[in-house]
Amino acid sequence: MNQSSAVAEVLGRMADSAIVAEYRRRTPTSARFADEARHVLPGGITHDARHVLPYPLYVERAHGSRKWDVDGNEYVDYAGGHGALLLGHNHPVVTEAIQRQLERGTHFGTCHELELRWGALVQRLMPSAERLRFTSSGTEATLLAVRLARAATGRKKLLRFAGHFHGWHDHMAFGVSGGFDAPSSPGVLPEITENVVLAPPDDTQATERILAASDDIAAVIIEPTGASWGQVPVQPEFLHALRDATTRHGALLIFDEVISGFRCSPGGAQAVLGIRPDLTTLAKILAGGLPGGALAGRRDVLELLEFADVRAAELGTDVTPRPKVPHHGTFNGNPLSAAAGIATLEIVATGDACQRASDYAERLRTALNGVIADERLDWSVYGTYSGFHVFTNPAGESITADDIAAGRVDYRTLKSRPDPALLMKLRLAMLVHGVELFSWPGGPTSAVHDERDLALTVAAFGSALQMLKDEGEIGRR
Ligand SMILES: Cc1ncc(COP(=O)(O)O)c(C=O)c1O
Repeated sequence: MNQSSAVAEVLGRMADSAIVAEYRRRTPTSARFADEARHVLPGGITHDARHVLPYPLYVERAHGSRKWDVDGNEYVDYAGGHGALLLGHNHPVVTEAIQRQLERGTHFGTCHELELRWGALVQRLMPSAERLRFTSSGTEATLLAVRLARAATGRKKLLRFAGHFHGWHDHMAFGVSGGFDAPSSPGVLPEITENVVLAPPDDTQATERILAASDDIAAVIIEPTGASWGQVPVQPEFLHALRDATTRHGALLIFDEVISGFRCSPGGAQAVLGIRPDLTTLAKILAGGLPGGALAGRRDVLELLEFADVRAAELGTDVTPRPKVPHHGTFNGNPLSAAAGIATLEIVATGDACQRASDYAERLRTALNGVIADERLDWSVYGTYSGFHVFTNPAGESITADDIAAGRVDYRTLKSRPDPALLMKLRLAMLVHGVELFSWPGGPTSAVHDERDLALTVAAFGSALQMLKDEGEIGRR
């Protein structure tokens, strides 16, 4: 099917859907705002993951595990601030820290004590963070990681894994979903794409072959819990082999812990796996629900950011000056994000937030798979730690959650979306029953999701499946 007939097919199936009609009935104010937004924001949205047909939901306020739209409807929230809100919305300690800082100022344009405390806290939780540099987002952190890796190794190329997401800058803007074979995104220079090698995920031999065939690979970057927060799981053995191979071939290993950092455990995925990467990219939970990111890692690499005079003052004037890697950013380490980040990380460090969120996700995955079994569907819900993904098995293959977890299912099967209308209707059907899924579909869970959220989600899933059955979207096989 070509692209325009695929789009026409999706629109056709949405047009006469009872699910869409019910969504429209419940959300007239969102519809009105979305109409206005189309004249202001391209596509009416500010992030591709917020693309929803017939229009996205407009949310007015949130608290704990819940949020409320502009028409007053309440939802159990699995967007979780795109994974930033391990502690849920408006945790009182985090909110108080932000309010206190707000009164003192949001930007001093100078160094301040909070950035020091924030960085030291990260170092304590994540010992591989010998030094760190704050950024304003995860995308900026992965961008800086690539630049520093090249400067440190004198090599050009970056090795990435198909399906893994590392933000939206030029090196990362292709091979993440859908057309894995498409050479690049419109607007990205071929010279950049040529210097990014895309390897199949979880394939030790292919990775070893690529590393052995080139002495120009500066770094290998990976989400250590698998592509898109485990949508395509990765096996721990692969990660250990990768640590070994990168060391042997002189490439830096970058763990992208933008989601997994402070979520899998207080020390991130690396603490659970017992692997020390050379560099780690962080964001989301790091900044406690406000914008912020960081690149952390080996001192000798991060020191490439130092000014020569600072180095000379510390190490003596006989140290050969070397070119500095430039790095700016108006909001790097800003006091407000620092206050929220410190409050959040202190709770994560001393409590059981990571474990609670993971336990909830496990109960949720089990309960949703129970609904699937009752309905005799060939779907599965899977994931690790505090995440869940709904696999709708578009090709009707014999695939279980165990197959997916064990890495027996191809990444293209898990990441491609041959039936976007079904996924859109599933999300809408959940919304009309009071549950917001993230776009995968699935979501990160939080430490404040509770038994009532679980019961509501399970009931909503059952009702959503019924609606999908009623309009012939599922149950035909
Ligand atoms: C693993 C990973 N890396 C990088 C990013 C980019 O982070 P940001 O959206 O803060 O730019 C994301 C965002 O979802 C992510 O999940």
